Amino acid sequence: AGRFLFLAIETTCDETGAAVLEGPSPPELGVPIVRSSVVASQIDLHERYQGVVPEIASRAHVRQILPTIDEALDRAGVSLGDLQAIAVATRPGLVGSLVVGLTAAKTLALALDIPLVAFDHLEAHLYACQLAYPEKNAYPCLGLVVSGGHTSLFACRGPIEAELLGGTIDDAAGEAFDKVANLLGLGYPGGPVVERAAATGNRLAYAFPRSFLHDDRLAFSFSGLKTAVLYAIRGQDARAGISLDDPQQVADIAASFQEAVVDILVAKTRQALRQTGLRRLGIGGGVAANARFRERIGAMAAEQGVDLFIPPLSMCTDNAAMGGIALAKLAAGQVASLDIDVTAGLVRP
Ligand code: KG4
Ligand code: ZN
Repeated sequence: AGRFLFLAIETTCDETGAAVLEGPSPPELGVPIVRSSVVASQIDLHERYQGVVPEIASRAHVRQILPTIDEALDRAGVSLGDLQAIAVATRPGLVGSLVVGLTAAKTLALALDIPLVAFDHLEAHLYACQLAYPEKNAYPCLGLVVSGGHTSLFACRGPIEAELLGGTIDDAAGEAFDKVANLLGLGYPGGPVVERAAATGNRLAYAFPRSFLHDDRLAFSFSGLKTAVLYAIRGQDARAGISLDDPQQVADIAASFQEAVVDILVAKTRQALRQTGLRRLGIGGGVAANARFRERIGAMAAEQGVDLFIPPLSMCTDNAAMGGIALAKLAAGQVASLDIDVTAGLVRP
């Protein structure tokens, strides 16, 4: 069999990603090899606002998209003419960000006269599990996406057959990390800095709430937890607040907060495994980079006898390599037309 080279583009939020992947030709169902994966981060631009500012994100994508694609081609040692398809994430995400990636993808597909493939960002986060373990079959699996925008559980019959089981009713887990980091004056993005502060903290120092723990529904809620952290910082009732200048007090809040998030994520995932009977677990999204979460979810999977698929850190946060999912779409004959639009929300077909 020959080789099938394709470019994947990811601009759903604040990272501009481009990757070159290589699959079998014709693109039968198989796991592609990542030839290159480039991510141009916008963290510096959003840092002073402690969150992603959509218009700044769109403009940064406009500046970065072509250099990022060029670098991905360079690193893979291929030129535009070698490409046989263009893949792009078209949902869910920020509309202004998605449109930049989609426009670049359409232009390349039209100019090179090759197929355009549209993929779902959340299915792609879970596909990173398959890419990380190419020798194993990651599906069917229970999929948990824990990112800055989503905290969702899926029953995945295959890479492009994810059925939403439930998700957060308010904040996403990563968003909670970002907001708590802000309250603690730790910086942005919140996940890595809260994790670092938590390393020297006592996770039993505060008994923060764990929403929906004893509820049959597969739902998450993190806004009550965030409010409880706010009260612990300010002080409430008889309890005094903390001094943000005292690293130990900050560490104790960070560790107790992180433990609450991890408890919720692990408990709900265990519940979903029981309810669905699925024997494989795939994890995606930025929060899956958290070491305490990886340790606890790994222990739970082992105790349940479930096969855990969790990507290396660089494939947990947003990247275009996970656009390798396009191979599954091509194998299923799912080519997009050039008038396809983006979708902001979590819309299932
Ligand atoms: O998947 P991702 O890169 O982008 C979205 O699709 O949202 O996830 C970003 C989120 C941010 O909220 C960030 O704070 C969180 O993932 N995150 C972490 C860690 N690294 C990133 N959360 C906890 N621990 C980490 N080490
Ligand atoms: Zn993401």
